[in-house]
Parts: sequence; C-alpha cells; structure tokens
Amino acid sequence: SSTTVGIVGGGPAGLMLSHLLHVAGIESVVIDLRTRDEIEHTHRAGILERDSVRLLVESGVSDRVLREGHEHSGIDLRFGGVSHRIDFQGLVGASTWLYPQTDVFVDLADARLRDGGDVRFGVTETSVVDVTSDRPGLLFTDADGVAHEVRCDVLVGADGSRSMTRLSVAGRKEYFRQYPFAWFGILCEAPPSAPLLIYTRSDRGFALISQRTDRVQRMYFQCSPEEAVDDWPEDRIWSELQARLAGEDGFTLKEGRIFEKTVLPFRSYVCEPMRHGNLLLAGDAAHTVPPTGAKGLNLALADVRVLAEVLERALRKNDRSALDDYTERALARVWRAQHFSYWMTTMLHSIEESSDFDVRRQLGELDAVAGSRAGATYLAEGYTGWPHG
Ligand code: DHB
Repeated sequence: SSTTVGIVGGGPAGLMLSHLLHVAGIESVVIDLRTRDEIEHTHRAGILERDSVRLLVESGVSDRVLREGHEHSGIDLRFGGVSHRIDFQGLVGASTWLYPQTDVFVDLADARLRDGGDVRFGVTETSVVDVTSDRPGLLFTDADGVAHEVRCDVLVGADGSRSMTRLSVAGRKEYFRQYPFAWFGILCEAPPSAPLLIYTRSDRGFALISQRTDRVQRMYFQCSPEEAVDDWPEDRIWSELQARLAGEDGFTLKEGRIFEKTVLPFRSYVCEPMRHGNLLLAGDAAHTVPPTGAKGLNLALADVRVLAEVLERALRKNDRSALDDYTERALARVWRAQHFSYWMTTMLHSIEESSDFDVRRQLGELDAVAGSRAGATYLAEGYTGWPHG
C-alpha cells in the first residue's frame, strides 16, 4: 500500500504532525510499538507553553486544555528557605498551563480517530527502508499479525529518545551531556500544597512541587541515577521532601498516599542534522533535554509545527528543497531550549563535588535572577516559551 507521509511514533509529536498534515489535506499513516493504553498510562511532564496551548486549540485538536487545564501565571523559585515569585504575567504577559502530557496524548489520539486518521498502535517489527530514495518504505506487522509494507513520499521518525529511525540518519553528529544525578518522581493523593509550581534549591538537593488535580499531586526530588525506588518507603520520601522545602516561613507540604514512584533519566542530547534524504526526525528522536523547565513536550510540538509547514511546501507545491530548511529552523529553538534546560538544571541542583565557592556562586546566581527584573524576565520568557515562528 502507499501513503504520503509515514510516521514512526504515535506520541504527541507523531500524532500532532499527522493532525496538522490532515488539516493541510495531506494523508499519513502513524505506527507505534506501544498500545494506546500503555502510552496513556505512562506518566510524563505536565506543563504546556503558551504556544503549545494555542496549537492544540487553534489547529482544532481540542479545547479541553482550556476547560480542564490550569493556567499558571508564574512559578516560585525557592532557595535559602525563602520563596521568590517569578510572575510570568507581570514580566512577559504570558502564562503556562498545567495539563499532563497523557491528556495531550488522549486529545490527539481522539482527534485522529474523529477525523478518520490511520493510526496503528501495538505494531511489531517496524523498520524504515530506502530513506534516500523517492519512495522510502515503512515496514511493520500490525496488531493482528499481518505484515505491511507502506511506500511513502516522506518518512518521519517521531519515535522518542530511544529512536530506531535515527540510526538511518547516516553521517549524523551527536551532541551529549550527562548529569551526575536523576529525578525521583512521585504521584500522591493529596491536595495542592501551593497555588503554583515550586522549584527548590536546598543543601540536600533540588525538589520540584508540581500538581495534577485537586486530589493528585506530582513531586520530584534530585537523586542518584542509580537510586532504587524500593529503598524509598513513603515515610522516607516525605521526610526528604519536607526537609528540602523547609524554611523560615514554616512552609510544609501536604502529604498523602504515594501511588507511583519512578527514577527519571537525565541527559541533554542533540542529533544533527534532523534529516537524511526523505527521512526527517522530530521530538525526542532528535533531541532530549533534562526535565528541569519542562521543555521536552513543548519542543516536540514546536518541531512538528515547523515540519508540517515544510512538508506542505515540499509535497503540495512539489518543492523538495523546502525540506532543506527543516533542520536549521528546528535546531534554532532546540539549542535555545537546550541552554535553558541546562541552565535551570545547573542553577538548582547540588553536585557532590562542588566546592564552597560553587555553592555560594550558585546562590548568587539565584539571587541575581530572582532579584532582578531583567534576570527574571529571561526565565519567564524561556519558561513560557519563545513564540512559534
Ligand atoms: C513537571 C515536570 C517538569 O519537568 C517540570 O519542569 C515541571 C512540571 C510535571 O510533571 O508536572
């Protein structure tokens, strides 16, 4: 069989691309190794930039984010046991939205179903072939065990940080940075402890207090990459989190039953270029950011917005040279976001080897950001997201 665009990966990047192509009148097929249920129940990030919200609503995916998401007009930066409000609305006139990635995924999967999209979850034996030819191919076996070969004009690899499509980008240069820590993430049954997210630097390490609903909260604390979740019974988690948040204002977290514990990987990665022949990469397949600053999902959505535009030019106006612009346009945002995520990470985390000088310098940096309109404005701009082009 054949289609116009073959997309590997049915997460937010792949599904949003398929949706945007549909709006432009371009047919696509999306495949994913995971079942819809598996994706729906994998907890990921929770913060959408202003333009990610606009994209969901204005492209016609769904306006559920506006009804069920929570607008956040800022964050609290907490250090030295004191909270400092970074007021996004006051500084840059923008907000972010608390709306879990699992909900973004559900909205996108439902929109593709609604619009008659061809999305195959739970496939096996996927591969991409002939990526430099005019008719590259997408091979897979569907959930019923039937083997398929779909010939396409263009293939897109949106298959996440352990991408297999990326391996077909011959001659790629890969940029890496590892960090000597990870995040321990929990979900708990408790009311919110504060109206906004709290990004905390403490001598015991970083902690982030996020939210999900009125009754479920998401929290993270810096841990070792080798940390074993079984070493952390509920009491130990709560006393560690409380200790990291403690300060002269007497702030305490509202505790509750913890029903999910995971250690999150932590690294920075970029693959360049994001294209080889008629194969283009999008989202985590091309770049990973550390989670501090919640840029990963937002970057993936920004990628596919550019990609949909480029593909529309290339396919409908039959101008293949349009594909040449993709890497440069996407990477401009990617490297800004790489810096932002690295900066938020290094400003807030503790490193075992740091000297007394490093620790004081870090506090000086936080003071300079929180205490200066210019410093706080940079944070607000990056966090709410640079406008989509
Ligand atoms: C969440 C995750 C992040 O990495 C972040 O910076 C903010 C919020 C979250 O899961 O809610």
